[in-house]
Amino acid sequence: MTSLHVTRTLPEDATDAALRADVRRGLTSTPKTLPPKWFYDARGSELFERITELPEYYPTRAEREILLARAGEIAAATGARTLVELGSGSSEKTRHLIDALTALRVYVPVDVSESALTQAARALIEERPGLAVHALIADFTADLTLPSTPGPRLLAFLGGTIGNLLPAERAAFLASVRRLLSPGDTLLLGTDLVKDERTLVHAYDDAAGVTAEFDKNVLAVVNRELGADFDPAAFDHLAVWDARHEWIEMRLRARTAQTVKVPALDLAVDFAAGEELRTEVSAKFRKSGVMAEVAAAGLELTHWWTDTAGRFALSLSTVR
Ligand code: SAH
Ligand code: TRP
Repeated sequence: MTSLHVTRTLPEDATDAALRADVRRGLTSTPKTLPPKWFYDARGSELFERITELPEYYPTRAEREILLARAGEIAAATGARTLVELGSGSSEKTRHLIDALTALRVYVPVDVSESALTQAARALIEERPGLAVHALIADFTADLTLPSTPGPRLLAFLGGTIGNLLPAERAAFLASVRRLLSPGDTLLLGTDLVKDERTLVHAYDDAAGVTAEFDKNVLAVVNRELGADFDPAAFDHLAVWDARHEWIEMRLRARTAQTVKVPALDLAVDFAAGEELRTEVSAKFRKSGVMAEVAAAGLELTHWWTDTAGRFALSLSTVR
């Protein structure tokens, strides 16, 4: 018995309206910003997969190490019959979890990237006959409605993607996750940890320039979707460690003074030479902070695992 369901809760026009609103707000604020979920069109998702294979980008390997070491414990602690994964992308690492969850019946991957999601879902139903896959094309920062599936539910949010939300967005997100869970359900959260600046900066500014290409892809998305005339070659990618907020900031710096037209928004945006556009933050965590943030959302941290080098953590929390 194999089954694949794809549900789209992001109508094309809603995506378009959200993109327009986000781009207008971001490009008219000081400093200029663009929100990260627009990185992930088909090309963005492909570039991200290449990032996960870079020697400098340790988070994927560190998280996989923990998943491989702890999948049995996670299965025993959760007894999950449904696995929901937010921002699932290629679902590559998730396979280790799926293999270990002996009671698992349904996998619900949730992502804004339709191409990554459908590719991953198709591969999974071939590899795991008997597993029902209900793929959800949806924005996890908006109100999510999950299909009704058997409990207990394990909700996984891997890759350190929670760090791409700003602190207030994170609090709202964790509160909405809590509302999706019932007693007996659990949250498995992947968080990258605070470490030396050099390691962090290199992870977001690799020698081969793949991350730079990924960062600039957001300009290509705005060009294609809104008819803008960003010249990606006129911007330099940089990764900056913000020690006060304990996050990495990805920025695109205008090489020269220039004006970018965004016809769909009837907007002309002036960049000064050297002006920086913030495209993404990637917050790094400490155990005390993760405990406090999940507690504030009504969850209780029960397990905390790191890779042997102590770079990345996976934590399990239950409904309080
Ligand atoms: N979980 C995978 C992928 C991480 S990259 C891993 O650990 O390797 C982040 C993923 O989250 C991408 O697939 C991206 O498309 C998705 N994503 C980013 N913002 C999102 C949002 N607001 N709603 C749903 N998915 C989102
Ligand atoms: N969730 C990933 C992270 O914060 C996303 C990411 C990796 C990313 N490299 C990037 C986002 C470079 C923007 C630019 O690690």
